[in-house]
Amino acid sequence: MTNKYMYFIANWKMFGGLNSLKSLNKVIKFLKSFKKNKLFEIIYCPPFTLIGPMANKLKFSKIKVGAQNCHESKSYGPFTGSINVSMLKDIGAKYIIIGHSENRQAGETDKLINSKIKSSLKSGLKVIFCIGETFSERRKKITNQILNKQIKAGLKNIKNRNKILIAYEPVWSIGTGLIPKSQDLFKSISFIKKKCKKSKVLYGGSVNPNNINIFKAIKIIDGYLIGSASQNSKKFIDIIKKSYN
Ligand code: PGA
Repeated sequence: MTNKYMYFIANWKMFGGLNSLKSLNKVIKFLKSFKKNKLFEIIYCPPFTLIGPMANKLKFSKIKVGAQNCHESKSYGPFTGSINVSMLKDIGAKYIIIGHSENRQAGETDKLINSKIKSSLKSGLKVIFCIGETFSERRKKITNQILNKQIKAGLKNIKNRNKILIAYEPVWSIGTGLIPKSQDLFKSISFIKKKCKKSKVLYGGSVNPNNINIFKAIKIIDGYLIGSASQNSKKFIDIIKKSYN
């Protein structure tokens, strides 16, 4: 049983409509009766379109809502199709995912990620900063080099790192069912913690109720960024329950 404060973050990616909000009822009900309630934070990051309705639905619950990305500009501007951090705050977001590998693969650079993190922190959002190596980088044994580069560039000139949760997500593990060997994961998380002493360090990549015990045994992990399993309330609740029994 862990007594550590943990984060369970649901990344819904580009899934879900208004109808999907019903699935939160189960989680709200579960939290009312779960005794370990004070030991963790749940953060749902739905698509932009659901942030407002979700924040409204969850206003009397301890569950927080976050966004999955933003435009780097803190102020309004002529950027068709974009959404900035003030708009996200305005509709109830408290957190934001920045630097997810799906966005890095779509062209997001470390420099852009750095400015998005700065805008987010300035506007008062807490940041879930994603880093991780690709399969070929792992094979070349340059994982630490890659993590170091992403941390250095992504967090350049950023002081208040206690407002940042780092999600270590090996790219090859996202949505594949593959997970790192425990000793490798321990090494990567320790490496990140050494570089960012003030940040909590989470793991993400194919976390589900069947493999949660493996991660739970690696005591230094501060929580999880959960993609596909988070879209199913039962699986999401199971992950939380299993983390505490
Ligand atoms: P997954 O996604 O749990 O479906 O692998 C994790 C993520 O992309 O954050």
